[in-house]
Amino acid sequence: MGRTSREQRRVKPARRWSWVMAVAIAISAGLAWAGNWKPLAQDGLHDPSNTALNQLQNPAEALSKLPPDTAGNQVNWVKALEQGKINPRTNIYAGTKVKVLDKKEPPDVLMKNTAELSMVRFPHKQHSEFLDCSNCHEGLFKSKAGTTPGFNMFNILQGEFCGRCHGAVAFPLTECKRCHNEPRPVPGGAAKAR
Ligand code: HEC
Ligand code: HEC
Ligand code: HEC
Repeated sequence: MGRTSREQRRVKPARRWSWVMAVAIAISAGLAWAGNWKPLAQDGLHDPSNTALNQLQNPAEALSKLPPDTAGNQVNWVKALEQGKINPRTNIYAGTKVKVLDKKEPPDVLMKNTAELSMVRFPHKQHSEFLDCSNCHEGLFKSKAGTTPGFNMFNILQGEFCGRCHGAVAFPLTECKRCHNEPRPVPGGAAKAR
């Protein structure tokens, strides 16, 4: 990763300086994020009394070397892939046919039914670097924009559509702006960000 030394900023807590902290947090979040991965023995999943536990790598050891993020498991996996920090396998069995990183990959899909919020620009490229087309088509999504029935935020929050992965294996649904990323044009004026 480009940055070897991580930057951490601390501001002494004082109530009337809370805005300073807010700014500092925003700045440090932009620069780097101090990961706080629990060791396996404390994660509530592994048996701490199991003597084989020390054979396993602790998350901090592996994940702290990857581009940081502020949500989910605190790794920006899209950047990690772009920067060549990870090189995931496309298949386990040689015979498995995969369709990823197609040169003629479909364009982004702009989703406009977002009420007052910014619209959603769905990036095909970043998804097809991690996934096979068949992970989404035709089971989760139709291959024609705007034709997937029941596709809305309520169902996403129920774990359908984007929510099958986001909040499970990809960044969580609390990160509204990462999906609601396309400001709605304001009639007669500049785009208004939300
Ligand atoms: C993983 C991506 C993703 C995230 C994260 C996300 N949304 Fe959405 N949201 C969508 C998509 C996709 C739609 C449907 C767009 C369409 O059909 O045109 C949508 C639609 C909506 C709508 C329109 C009404 C509806 O029921 O569909 C609202 C309001 C909304 N989202 C609010 C939020 C809020 C608030 C958050 C954060 C708590 C959030 N969204 C996080 C993808 C996301
Ligand atoms: C992570 C899920 C996901 C993956 C993986 C994915 N797509 Fe899509 N695709 C979507 C969504 C969401 C839509 C929009 C559906 C809607 O609006 O109802 C879409 C729409 C499309 C469309 C219609 C575009 C348009 O403008 O009408 C095509 C064509 C398409 N996908 C092809 C592919 C191909 C080929 C691949 C593999 C290289 C692929 N998709 C991978 C989610 C995905
Ligand atoms: C089959 C799994 C899957 C589904 C379904 C899915 N995503 Fe993702 N998405 C991923 C993965 C994996 C990543 C990369 C890891 C991460 O960013 O957490 C990702 C990343 C993203 C990114 C970040 C791209 C970047 O350049 O950083 C956006 C935005 C996004 N997804 C939006 C959506 C929206 C909107 C939907 C629904 C229309 C959706 N995703 C459905 C798996 C999925």
